[in-house]
Amino acid sequence: MAAEMALVKPISKFSNVTSGKPRMGAYSKMSIVRMSASATPTTKPSKKANKNAIKETLLTPRFYTTDFDEMETLFNTEINKNLNQSEFEALLQEFKTDYNQTHFVRNKEFKEAADKMEGPLRQIFVEFLERSCTAEFSGFLLYKELGRRLKKTNPVVAEIFSLMSRDEARHAGFLNKGLSDFNLALDLGFLTKARKYTFFKPKFIFYATYLSEKIGYWRYITIYRHLKENPEYQCYPIFKYFENWCQDENRHGDFFSALMKAQPQFLNDWKAKLWSRFFCLSVYVTMYLNDCQRTAFYEGIGLNTKEFDMHVIIETNRTTARIFPAVLDVENPEFKRRLDRMVEINEKLLAVGESDDIPFVKNLKRIPHIAALASELLATYLMPPIESGSVDFAEFEPQLVY
Ligand SMILES: [Fe+2]
Ligand SMILES: [Fe+2]
Repeated sequence: MAAEMALVKPISKFSNVTSGKPRMGAYSKMSIVRMSASATPTTKPSKKANKNAIKETLLTPRFYTTDFDEMETLFNTEINKNLNQSEFEALLQEFKTDYNQTHFVRNKEFKEAADKMEGPLRQIFVEFLERSCTAEFSGFLLYKELGRRLKKTNPVVAEIFSLMSRDEARHAGFLNKGLSDFNLALDLGFLTKARKYTFFKPKFIFYATYLSEKIGYWRYITIYRHLKENPEYQCYPIFKYFENWCQDENRHGDFFSALMKAQPQFLNDWKAKLWSRFFCLSVYVTMYLNDCQRTAFYEGIGLNTKEFDMHVIIETNRTTARIFPAVLDVENPEFKRRLDRMVEINEKLLAVGESDDIPFVKNLKRIPHIAALASELLATYLMPPIESGSVDFAEFEPQLVY
């Protein structure tokens, strides 16, 4: 997993969850361990690390959990006759090949580049590494648990999940090593226990993770290609690894595509169309609002944030249209106009949060902005969609014309 998906609210919390994962709801902070108080590269990490809490918002990367019992039923070959085991076996061979086994090897350029970075760019880079590491680690946790839980019912699918969790652990580890160049590290053990887990039913996990993998692919490849053409903006070597890295995300997305095809009930009715559009909207808006709050990062590597995001959204949407039964009409100029309007509203909301008012007054001042944002979201959702997908409608399914 690579991208962040956070705007969607949990459907219900921890109902039917049989994961062995901690269910702690009392914490809501991410933890950063400052390895060294000094910026001097030779300083050894302090054992008594300080934990700097970072404020968690609606747009922070989340951790997901699901109904693992339902997952077991879905992938039981005796119950589900749509499971194309030979396709999954072919995918498994691909994952076993492990194309990137020797790809994530660091060199001294990393530390040298980090030491050269100063001021706001340094800070924004650290935040980029933290958020990306959290998003990758979130994928690792979910896939690892799915690999564990599906072992008995479907060993092939289970092994693919385990191998995907291997990839995500690698990605998260590589980003965390990047943080060590800045004398920081994410305390992943603490994150595992302390963060809230958002519950999604399996069907929603499929939509959300498919989109997250594909949008992650398009983000990484777009940054990679841009920096290859404009090497003067190559200020930190991690981007040079994105070309092979994003192929992992692409493969992960393709696996989810195969999973969804094996569950046609999640793709072939009017509800699936409504949910597909909902998840597209959530993922695209979350990314756009997040990135527009961090334009310094994208400008720092020579990108125009909004152009970059629109390119990623359009490409992700075209890829997604191959499998989702409906997608948003993101190439309609009205879509971008509405996104930009949401950015303006979000800026007003953030300004309220940063004001000196007492919490009660802040909440009052937020109401009209939240209402405006909700109405913008609804209007975008209701824009005429694009019918898409490759799975045929079952004849007995009622079709809704809208
Ligand atoms: Fe990843
Ligand atoms: Fe991934």
